[in-house]
Amino acid sequence: MPNLDASGCMPGRFIVFEGGEGAGKTTQQRLLASRLRALGRAVVETREPGGCLMAERIRSLLVSGQPGELDGRTELFLLLAARVEHVRSVIGPALAQGVWVLCDRFGLSTLAYQGFGRGLPVAQLEGMHRLAVDGLVPDRVVVLDIDPEVGLRRVVERGQVVGRFEQESLSFHQRVRQGFVHLAAADPARIRVVDADQNIQAVADAVWLGVMG
Ligand code: TMP
Repeated sequence: MPNLDASGCMPGRFIVFEGGEGAGKTTQQRLLASRLRALGRAVVETREPGGCLMAERIRSLLVSGQPGELDGRTELFLLLAARVEHVRSVIGPALAQGVWVLCDRFGLSTLAYQGFGRGLPVAQLEGMHRLAVDGLVPDRVVVLDIDPEVGLRRVVERGQVVGRFEQESLSFHQRVRQGFVHLAAADPARIRVVDADQNIQAVADAVWLGVMG
């Protein structure tokens, strides 16, 4: 249970799910939300890019089209613009009201995809992300780790839309995976890696430990 803040309010907790394509973030976020609600917690489920009207519009620009169509920097600025709107209109207000916010992707995706995947400088990305979010830091980040070959196969088997990112090369997705693992290792108290190549319940149990432990 979070502590009261200086003004006597109980701040919400900000939990982020991260990982490559087909890792099961959406399913696991839903399961965690149900479990928290069963315990009486108020929960908002959201996602990036997206989560509010303007950011969902930007999302449609980002996920459509073909690999190579956008410069990595264009992609970055669109992602960050969407994030500014999402944080100020959804995440920030919910946390201020003591609500738990569960978010499918956030800043670690930018470091992994645009940094490790596209090759943009990670230190600069960190600074730009901080500017976009006004210094907001998740309480806990769960990285669902999956071999990209397995994850991308899942995306196809589930009949999900294969967008601009999913169509990137296997080596791109491998760099992204290495990025997530590398970044998690640098901050083990806050970022928990969960093996996503297990059955849904086993992953959910590991996620619960990662969030509550
Ligand atoms: P999704 O498929 O998890 O809904 O996310 C859409 C895509 O956006 C996904 O392929 C990864 C990409 N993405 C980035 O490249 N950088 C980011 O910062 C975020 C939030 C998402």
